[in-house]
Amino acid sequence: MKIQTGNPARGSDFFNRKNLIQKAWDLIESGSHILIAAPRRVGKTSLMYFLLDHPKKNYLFLYLITESVNNENEFFRRVVNKVLKTDFIQASQKVMAFLEKIVPTIKKVGPSGVEFGVNEEHNYREMLGKILASPSERKKLIIMLDEFPETLENIIEDEGAGAGKHFLQSNRELRQEAEISDQVQFIYTGSIGLENVVSQLNAVNTIDDLVRLKIPPLTNNQAGNMINLLLENVDFDLSDHLIEYILEKIEWLIPFYIQLVIQELKYLYRDEATADISEETVDQAFRGMLEQRQHFEHWHTRLRASFKGKDYSFVKNLLNIAAETGFISSNEIYDLAVKYEKEDSFKTFVGALIYDGYINNHDDPGKYRYNSPILRMWWRQNVAN
Ligand SMILES: Nc1ncnc2c1ncn2[C@@H]1O[C@H](COP(=O)(O)OP(=O)(O)OP(=O)(O)O)[C@@H](O)[C@H]1O
Ligand SMILES: [Mg+2]
Repeated sequence: MKIQTGNPARGSDFFNRKNLIQKAWDLIESGSHILIAAPRRVGKTSLMYFLLDHPKKNYLFLYLITESVNNENEFFRRVVNKVLKTDFIQASQKVMAFLEKIVPTIKKVGPSGVEFGVNEEHNYREMLGKILASPSERKKLIIMLDEFPETLENIIEDEGAGAGKHFLQSNRELRQEAEISDQVQFIYTGSIGLENVVSQLNAVNTIDDLVRLKIPPLTNNQAGNMINLLLENVDFDLSDHLIEYILEKIEWLIPFYIQLVIQELKYLYRDEATADISEETVDQAFRGMLEQRQHFEHWHTRLRASFKGKDYSFVKNLLNIAAETGFISSNEIYDLAVKYEKEDSFKTFVGALIYDGYINNHDDPGKYRYNSPILRMWWRQNVAN
């Protein structure tokens, strides 16, 4: 397993999370439409790639990332084009007969199949419904949509909340039609919480049929195994004691942080000609990791984009206090809410911070702490001070 800190982990670089994958399959096989709900960088896309690359018999997966799309028709055009490229469709007489009727807008018929150009007069959502209703093989098609909440946000930004709700509604109707055909399921995810965006629109009913799949952090045991696999491809070794030391420091054991630490240690070992890795080297690696702004900046940018004015001041100060003192109590949160006149809405904001992976109150319901001491340290150095 090679170190991978930028792209999703794939193939032999993917640390096999058997329980998580089993859980995903349980949901898929029960016929559910799924929302993968997890904070940034936790491994959502990697999980989708794994499913894509390892379908069970009689399942066909399709992966689509729609980050830059900003209107509904364009979104469905992309999905139509993707679906048309699968063998789910290609052998279907029924679909081909249907497509022939709209042949003038077909852009390309080549080895990879049929593709539609942009034609605003087409209702691609309707077309997709028809295509999905007439599959050719006895296979189930699982359509995975990555960065879906970003598409929703784009639509809201460019065309307003009404268009956003319509988009959600269209997707819901499509799922219901898909249920009738009984051969198509959807999996949604994205780097921002769909539930947060949807609840701001007061449109929770449009996604209440989606079953949540959470991605938990690794257990201590899994994280240790993952480190050992990464060590197979570097020049240094780590004692069990040092591995334990690293895991304690990371605390929130998501694969990404493990990758970052091992990568930093690799650089230190090579560049500084460090003879042996010690606790001091590990400490130094953590410091080096925090200097890489690109890995953490998005946590701040995201808040800046989704909270304005006093809302932003409230969440930022809350996180500042938690970063400085290690936690923030419910009372302190309430005092802050009073200060920024957010008594009515602060619970939703705290909920969003929990959902997006900044803080939790697992140990003590009255105290909120950072999920990750690494993010806490970064925040303290770069945002709070
Ligand atoms: N199963 C895994 N095995 C190894 N590394 C992983 C795994 N899952 C996640 N990672 C690490 O975490 C990083 C982020 O993974 P991924 O892109 O899948 O997360 P994401 O949740 O889709 O992130 P984003 O919210 O930014 O889209 C990867 O670059 C890799 O370093
Ligand atoms: Mg992703």
